[in-house]
Amino acid sequence: KKPAGAPDKSLARAVTKVGIVGAGLMASQMALLFARQLKVPVVLTDIDQARVDKGVGYVHTEIDKLAAKGRVSPDGANRLKALVSGSLDKAAFSDADFVIEAVFEELGVKQTVFAEVEEHVSAECVLATNTSSLSITDMASKLKHPERVVGFHFFNPVAVMPLLEIVRADRTDDATLATAFAVGKALRKSSVLVKDAPAFVVNRLLTRFMGEVVQSIDEGTPFEVADNALEPLGLPMSPLVLLQLVGAPVALHVAETMNRAFPDRFGVSDNMKKFVAAGKNAVWTWDASGKPS
Ligand code: CAA
Repeated sequence: KKPAGAPDKSLARAVTKVGIVGAGLMASQMALLFARQLKVPVVLTDIDQARVDKGVGYVHTEIDKLAAKGRVSPDGANRLKALVSGSLDKAAFSDADFVIEAVFEELGVKQTVFAEVEEHVSAECVLATNTSSLSITDMASKLKHPERVVGFHFFNPVAVMPLLEIVRADRTDDATLATAFAVGKALRKSSVLVKDAPAFVVNRLLTRFMGEVVQSIDEGTPFEVADNALEPLGLPMSPLVLLQLVGAPVALHVAETMNRAFPDRFGVSDNMKKFVAAGKNAVWTWDASGKPS
């Protein structure tokens, strides 16, 4: 069934090579997914060789795990590994049809990245962003071809979570949007078209949810009480474990974006600010079993 709002699929352009800007956890998970499902070359870039090597290393380790589980054959694993490469030079994107960025969650950084990518790719190459809260229209505004920019927002863990939010910016054209939906389908995700609004749909809800939990802790509720209180709802993960999965710095950025957009509804936790400023990924510590301690 055609997703609501998706343009006619005949408008979609072929994707034969994918570029990924950033080689962090989301980017590396995306690299594996693209290589595995689209079976096309995927190249990761980042600001230094250590980051690039770490990203490619993550993908290779995950492929080895899939092989150990019998999900891919030994030959298939080697073919998959050969599809994923790293580079420091965005010129490696010159023949890519679809480039997605997953860099630091700040508008200026993402605008700079897209402007750099635009120097190397064809006018029709789709520029997608995995931003979880920023405006896609603002991100595209300074480009020569803003019509090829689209939001393509995955959820962590990328391999497992079925949802993909596809975001149409003010100037996104039908061919770009159709290509995004075709890629989403090839990746076997359930794509939904969402408005270019702060944090789209899912993070708007999740941020409110996690924000209320962490602010109740700021106000004195013991963290294990706040975390355990929601367990009977049958959530797949308790709020603080989910917060750790998302990462406190990302969660804080989204909370700040939402606070700017809707100050009456979204607060920013003092504990979150302190812990992120101290370079910690999570507001509380977790024991080896993954539970807050
Ligand atoms: N990477 C790859 N695969 C993973 C994984 C990971 N990090 N974590 C789990 N999996 C796989 C497991 O290997 C397993 O696969 P198989 O069945 O093929 O072996 C499968 O997922 C289920 O895992 P488990 O049985 O170990 O655990 P589970 O049943 O508890 O499920 C979960 C794990 C799917 C992550 C579940 O806990 C869950 O759905 N949690 C909520 C996650 C969520 O809400 N994510 C959204 C975060 S918000 C976000 O990402 C947006 C943003 O912009 C900030």
